[in-house]
Amino acid sequence: MDAEPLTAYVNGHFVPMAEAMVHIEDRGFQFADGIYEVIACFGGNFLDLDQHLARLQRSLDAVAIPAPCADAELRELLVQIYQRNPFRDAMVYVQITRGVAARAHLITAGLTPTLVLTARRLPAPSDAKLAQGVVGITLDDIRWKRCDIKSIALLASVLGKQEAMQRDADEAFWLDREGHVLEGCATNLLAVIDGKLVTHPLDHQVLGGITRHMALELADELAITVVERPWKLNEQNLTECMLTSTTNAVLPVCRIDGKPIGDGVPGTITMRLRAAMCKRLAQLSAQGSAQGSLA
Ligand code: PDD
Repeated sequence: MDAEPLTAYVNGHFVPMAEAMVHIEDRGFQFADGIYEVIACFGGNFLDLDQHLARLQRSLDAVAIPAPCADAELRELLVQIYQRNPFRDAMVYVQITRGVAARAHLITAGLTPTLVLTARRLPAPSDAKLAQGVVGITLDDIRWKRCDIKSIALLASVLGKQEAMQRDADEAFWLDREGHVLEGCATNLLAVIDGKLVTHPLDHQVLGGITRHMALELADELAITVVERPWKLNEQNLTECMLTSTTNAVLPVCRIDGKPIGDGVPGTITMRLRAAMCKRLAQLSAQGSAQGSLA
């Protein structure tokens, strides 16, 4: 639980978190009929906001939910939710569902979408996690076939993450039928194979992570070759693994299914990418003038 008072936005109103409610017949509650985004905000500067809003629009289009408001209004609401919560570095959550209707699978015409926004502290990884790296497990991918949509239907990911925790691991990585690594429950996974940065190509089996995209851009700048192709954990010359996500930036993954990745310590390329990314985030934070209010 956050110790600080939290403010949420629900359908036109900023309200204390404890009073933030949606209807029990919201289709998000009944059918997971909705989509979401998680956006980092450093000192009032949103990281890759245009990319997040473009992905939000792609998700809305894919499930035919109309935008709840104009782009400019949503941007203003994002600034507001950041400013009304007491965090300098925050993760802002956006959820849009199809709206409220008597429970029936068929979509009622003319529904008003539900829009919910929250802001929470952006967690920083512990020194121990950075030194020892993330521990992972693999699981057969039991998710649906449109993982490119940022859908709120996350039951498989919830169960995957829970199983990871029960097996003393941090994250579960999904494998396709041939044993290729797709991504994690809430992260993308990248490997270093033969000195090249390898990750699954963008298709319906993975979410196009905004942080993944940034990692690939930074790799380019650092003259690290990027290869987007299906890959397996048992490939020869696989020396490093790393995960990416808005809430973790880049983190080394040092053990998967009880076996060390490479030497079992954070890899050189991983830590170069992490340093480059953290530098970018720190610059964004330093440029930011704003700070969430304590009101
Ligand atoms: N998860 N893959 C999946 C399945 C994800 O849920 C996420 C993000 C990512 C990484 O995407 P990005 O770099 O754009 O954050 C990849 C968010 C953070 C979440 O569910 O909390």
